[in-house]
Amino acid sequence: MSGHDFVSSYDDASGIDAADQQTQITEQTIEEMRTIAARYPDPRSALLPMLHLAQSVDGRISDAGVKACADVLGIPTAQVNGVVTFYTMYKRRPAGKHHIGVCTTAICAVLGGDILLDHMEKRLGIHEGETTPDGEFSLERIECNAGCDFAPIMMVNWEFMDNMTPDKADELIDKLSAGEQVQSTRGATVVEWKQAERVLAGFDDGRADEGPSAGEASLLGLKIAREHGWTAPAEPHITSRDEPEEQK
Ligand code: FES
Repeated sequence: MSGHDFVSSYDDASGIDAADQQTQITEQTIEEMRTIAARYPDPRSALLPMLHLAQSVDGRISDAGVKACADVLGIPTAQVNGVVTFYTMYKRRPAGKHHIGVCTTAICAVLGGDILLDHMEKRLGIHEGETTPDGEFSLERIECNAGCDFAPIMMVNWEFMDNMTPDKADELIDKLSAGEQVQSTRGATVVEWKQAERVLAGFDDGRADEGPSAGEASLLGLKIAREHGWTAPAEPHITSRDEPEEQK
């Protein structure tokens, strides 16, 4: 090896299969991308939901999905790829029918998130970032999902599963494997990952109001404040960015 050879420290075992050019993207998908783009004053702003639509069709961001987005928006594929590779929510490898996320950020970690992720790897027989060979499940380590008051949390197809334990996770996987209907602990029906991706693209499935918008733990502070008659101090009247006016 010459002194100029580059050796990557990343493991290629779960790399993207660049030879996989399969796609289900059709003229109808492209028409729906145009519909999304027309919702924004600057069509380029539509790229994120358009990519969700591409994922809802192909189960991943395929080269065809990238090209379709670029063609509709009139931008280079390199710009689309720059966005795709920036956000972890876009998958270059096929995600499972059910995409499982386990939060291991600080609060979830100390309350069992790391143990839960370890358990899920063993239960599904895959590592984080991988998909089971039958395409049923994919697993991802996620950062804080702003559900810390219900830690440790798991996500299934972007729906919250609060206060999770390995036993509860096993029960959940059993039900999903058996094709049973599963509800998020906050009430929403868990749909398949591709369907959830279509909703993120902006196509309403009529389920937006299922379940409470805030759980008991999130509202506890408000409840205690009301019981004690506590209120927030009055906000100073801001006259400019830097100079709050003295309260009279
Ligand atoms: S640390 Fe897990 S949701 Fe915030």
